Amino acid sequence: MSDTADPLTPVAAAYERRAAEYSALIGTMDAVHPVDRQLVDSWATGVDGPVIDAGCGPGQWTDHLAGLGLDVWGVDLTPAFVARAREHYPRRTFHLGSLEELPAENQTIGGILAWYSLIHRAPDEVPAALAEFRRVLRVPTGRLLLGFFEGDTVEPFDHTVVTAYRWPVDAMAELVATAGFTVTETHVIQRRGARPHAAVLATLEPDDRPLRR
Ligand SMILES: C[S@@+](CC[C@H](N)C(=O)[O-])C[C@H]1O[C@@H](n2cnc3c(N)ncnc32)[C@H](O)[C@@H]1O
Repeated sequence: MSDTADPLTPVAAAYERRAAEYSALIGTMDAVHPVDRQLVDSWATGVDGPVIDAGCGPGQWTDHLAGLGLDVWGVDLTPAFVARAREHYPRRTFHLGSLEELPAENQTIGGILAWYSLIHRAPDEVPAALAEFRRVLRVPTGRLLLGFFEGDTVEPFDHTVVTAYRWPVDAMAELVATAGFTVTETHVIQRRGARPHAAVLATLEPDDRPLRR
């Protein structure tokens, strides 16, 4: 994890091209639906310890959670987002890097918010991200909140920026459970004129599975 100029992944390159547009349209808390804000805020009140906004984009959730008093930092693969986040929220901390290689020691993190940041991962790539989340989250109190697009089957669709995947909420919940989490809540949210979306909330129970690193 560094701010050096590694070649961009296709997802980061796609966001890099649209970062200004994305930030202006949906990269602020004003653009967040009140129901989503309430869901994240309610989750955040139960978090004990540092929080990672994994795939933080323009940094609005990092700033929002910090405003609630949480010790939070953001990480994102897209340099333009990290630059924008640092510029707009100079008192907050942002790292350029992958959520699959978090700069955190094993079991040191209280909560991970992955708000629409796993949506571009092919289904067979999601477990690696979940394993990394599990590695850094505290056992047993670590909490995970995933937000993603919902659908009847796991399938790709033509997202405005770059191909994304929709998931049945139960399929995502099962994957999260398979990764070693205890799923505590699932939500499916359908709004007029918007794609259905979903959230999975999970925590960790003590177990003796080995950590990856
Ligand atoms: C749909 S945007 C969501 C951004 C932000 N969470 C929000 O709610 O506005 C997806 C974000 O995930 C980031 N991202 C995708 N894959 C990533 C990865 N492997 N590691 C870190 N960030 C990633 C992208 O750069 C982009 O900022």
